[in-house]
Amino acid sequence: MKLKDKVALVTGGARGIGEAIARAYAAEGAHVVVADVEIGAAEALAGELGGQAMAIRLDVRDSGSITAAISSVVSRLGGIDILVNNAAIFDMAPILEITEASFDRQFAVNVKGLLFMLQAAAAQMVRQGRGGKIINMASQAGRRGEALVAVYCATKAAVISLTQSAGLGLITHGINVNGIAPGVVDTPMWDQVDALFAKYEGLPIGEKKRRVGLTVPAGRMGAPDDYRGVAVFLASHDSDYVVAQTFNVDGGNWMS
Ligand SMILES: NC(=O)c1ccc[n+]([C@@H]2O[C@H](COP(=O)([O-])OP(=O)(O)OC[C@H]3O[C@@H](n4cnc5c(N)ncnc54)[C@H](O)[C@@H]3O)[C@@H](O)[C@H]2O)c1
Repeated sequence: MKLKDKVALVTGGARGIGEAIARAYAAEGAHVVVADVEIGAAEALAGELGGQAMAIRLDVRDSGSITAAISSVVSRLGGIDILVNNAAIFDMAPILEITEASFDRQFAVNVKGLLFMLQAAAAQMVRQGRGGKIINMASQAGRRGEALVAVYCATKAAVISLTQSAGLGLITHGINVNGIAPGVVDTPMWDQVDALFAKYEGLPIGEKKRRVGLTVPAGRMGAPDDYRGVAVFLASHDSDYVVAQTFNVDGGNWMS
């Protein structure tokens, strides 16, 4: 087991890619904290994972919620070794129709929430003095703009940049900060993406999903379980010399 007795907190861990990572970490022996605004789903998953898994209600937009989550994990599990900064939201609109409210909503979760979650977990790891692992969920959307997805793409470009800066700033404490850039992954988020493309491109529901799957070099959309391997690698000692990188895990969509 690669993560035996490590404490791993997964934001947005109640479903989708976060859920798959939470399951993978539990299978590798970690005590998993499923941290999500959707507390019911988080509790159901933590109950299934057993052991010392726990659920906490976390809203990464709220610094009070972040502080409370970290202190609850520390008091119940004794510390924190791994953070997966996975929670994010999606929206899209043509450039001329982007609203300030949509911009603020996406940056509040995907960028501000991610940074201050990272900061709070890193501060705890520094206090513990035994290093740690932080994994930020970026996206292929952060590698290149898209006409209808400007704001979400910008948030994910910010995640890649923050991963570089935090990676350089924290490695002296033995904390590895790295990122994963998924491509197109069949999760509840993609159902929302599909519905929005249907609206803006006049497509039937499900058609955009079918088309993007066909264009992936690997021949299919990603599944949440496709992220288990890279997430375990980046959380384990196997990646101790990997610093400030964002890994494309997208079936061959992007090369950088
Ligand atoms: N699905 C894809 O195709 C895809 C592609 C590239 C990157 N990503 C990224 O991977 C990550 C996971 O995506 P997914 O598809 O599993 O998403 P999802 O929407 O299926 O799940 C996201 C989870 O985050 C939680 N969440 C939302 N706002 C929150 C908040 N303020 N505080 C705490 N939790 C919150 C939700 O309740 C949900 O459980 C995200 O960072 C996403 O941007 C996804």
